[in-house]
Amino acid sequence: MREIRVRVHRDLPPTRFWSYGGSVPGPTLEMRRGEPALIEWANELPEQHFLPIDHSLCGADRSVPDVRTVVHVHGARVPPESDGHPDEWFTSGHSVTYRYPNEQEAATLWYHDHAMGLERLNHYAGMFGMFLVRDETEAALKLPSGPFELPLVICDRLFDETGQLVYPDSGVPEAPWVSEVYGDVMLVNGTLFPYLEVEPRSYRLRVVNACNARFLYLALANGQKFQQIGSDQGLLAAPVELQRLTLGPAERADLILDFSALAGSQVVLKSQAFELMQFRVKAGATSERTALPARLHPLPRMSENVARRTRLLTINEYQDLPVVGKPTCSPRPDGGAPRMLMLLNAARWREPVTEKVTLGDIEIWTFANLTEDSHPIHLHLVRFQLLDRQQFDVDDYLTRGVLTRIGKPVPPAPEEAGWKDTVRADPGLLTRIIVHFSGYPGRYVWHCHLLEHAANEMMRPFEILAPS
Ligand code: C2O
Ligand code: CU
Repeated sequence: MREIRVRVHRDLPPTRFWSYGGSVPGPTLEMRRGEPALIEWANELPEQHFLPIDHSLCGADRSVPDVRTVVHVHGARVPPESDGHPDEWFTSGHSVTYRYPNEQEAATLWYHDHAMGLERLNHYAGMFGMFLVRDETEAALKLPSGPFELPLVICDRLFDETGQLVYPDSGVPEAPWVSEVYGDVMLVNGTLFPYLEVEPRSYRLRVVNACNARFLYLALANGQKFQQIGSDQGLLAAPVELQRLTLGPAERADLILDFSALAGSQVVLKSQAFELMQFRVKAGATSERTALPARLHPLPRMSENVARRTRLLTINEYQDLPVVGKPTCSPRPDGGAPRMLMLLNAARWREPVTEKVTLGDIEIWTFANLTEDSHPIHLHLVRFQLLDRQQFDVDDYLTRGVLTRIGKPVPPAPEEAGWKDTVRADPGLLTRIIVHFSGYPGRYVWHCHLLEHAANEMMRPFEILAPS
C-alpha cells in the first residue's frame, strides 16, 4: 500500500491516490478454486491522511493513529484472522500475511480497505482491486477469456481544478462526516472517460460497483441488450437478458456483451447521465460470437423449511445521538447539534454481539428498513439467497412496535436470484435472505456498504460458534 501519483486523464495533472501495488485499482488477483494463497499486505503509506478524518466517529478518535489500514476480500470465505476485521488495522511500516483458502465457487470478488472509521476515506483514496476465483465449471463454459475478458472497477469521484481528489465535509471541523459521498465523474479502472478498441465479437465484463455510495444503472447508449451470467457469488442458473442493470455499491455483475453487429462503429456504456466508457469496435468480419448455453450452473433454491432460525433486523437512522440511550462511542466533540447516527438493529458497533449463529446452520434474516434510503447490506464469509421483499407499515413499527405486512412478497428478479453476498434493502420493505453459515467459527461483521453509513456504525459484529 503506497501513495502514488497517476493521471486519470491526459488533460489533467497527476492525481494523488493511495494504492495497492502501485495502481488504482490494485492488481487483479486471479485465484484458482482449491489452491490456497498467502498474501502479505504491507502498509507503506504516509503517516498523515490527505482526506478529512472525523475523529468523532467510532474507532477514529485521537487515541489511534491517523493512518490505519486493514484489507478485506469482499465475498471470500476465509478464516476470521484473515478476513480483515475493522478493528484489526495496522499502521505504516507494518504488514500482515493473510491466508485465502479459495475453497469456493468461481466468482467476481474484490478487495478493499476496511479500517474502522477510515474505510470511507481509504477506499475513496483508491484502495480497492479485483479478486477473481476461477474453477472448472466456469472453464467448461468456454466464456470469452484473455483479452476478451475485461475486469471493470467503476467508481465515482470529485476532483478539484488541479486534478486532486476532493472528499466533501460537513463544514463542522470537529465532525466532518457527511452521510453519503457522490462524485460528479466516473472512473473506470482508474481512468476518466476511457475507451477501448474491441473486436466485433462477444466480450465478458466483470463489473464491480466500487462507489462509496452511488447506485449504478448500467446500460448501453444504443439501447442494445446484454446478458448477465453471474452476480456477486458466481454464475447464475441461466443467462438473463437485460437492457439495464441495477448495481448497488459492492455488488458485482458478470456480463456478456456482443459487439458483432457493431463493426466499424462505437458504443458507450453508461449509468444514467454518466458516460462510463466507450467501446470502439473494429471494422471487419465477426471473429467469434459466444453462443451461451441455456443453463450455466445448477443453482437450487434454498427452501425456507430448512432454516433453523429467523431474525428480524432493523435498519435505523437517528437524528439524535443519545436516542437509543446506550453508551456512545464518542459524543460530538464540539458540543454542537447531535448528528445523525445510522445503526443496524438499533445497536452501536461496540455493543456486545447479538447475532450468534452455529456453524453449519441455515437462518433467515429479515431486514426491516425503517429509513428513507436504500442500503446494500453485506455479510462477510457467507453467500446467501434473496427470498423476497415485501412492503410493511413503517409508522406502525416505529410507533407501536407492530410489524404490519402490506401486499404480497415479491420474489427476486432472475438477476438477483443467484448467490449473493450483498443485497439491496429498499426503504419501507422487508428484505428476506436465507443464509447458510458455513465456513469457520469466529467473529465476522455485517454492514451497510454505503461506506459513509458503515463508518457511522451501520455495521455490527456477528459470531459463528463451533457446534457443540
Ligand atoms: Cu466490501 Cu465488509 O465489505
Ligand atoms: Cu446504509
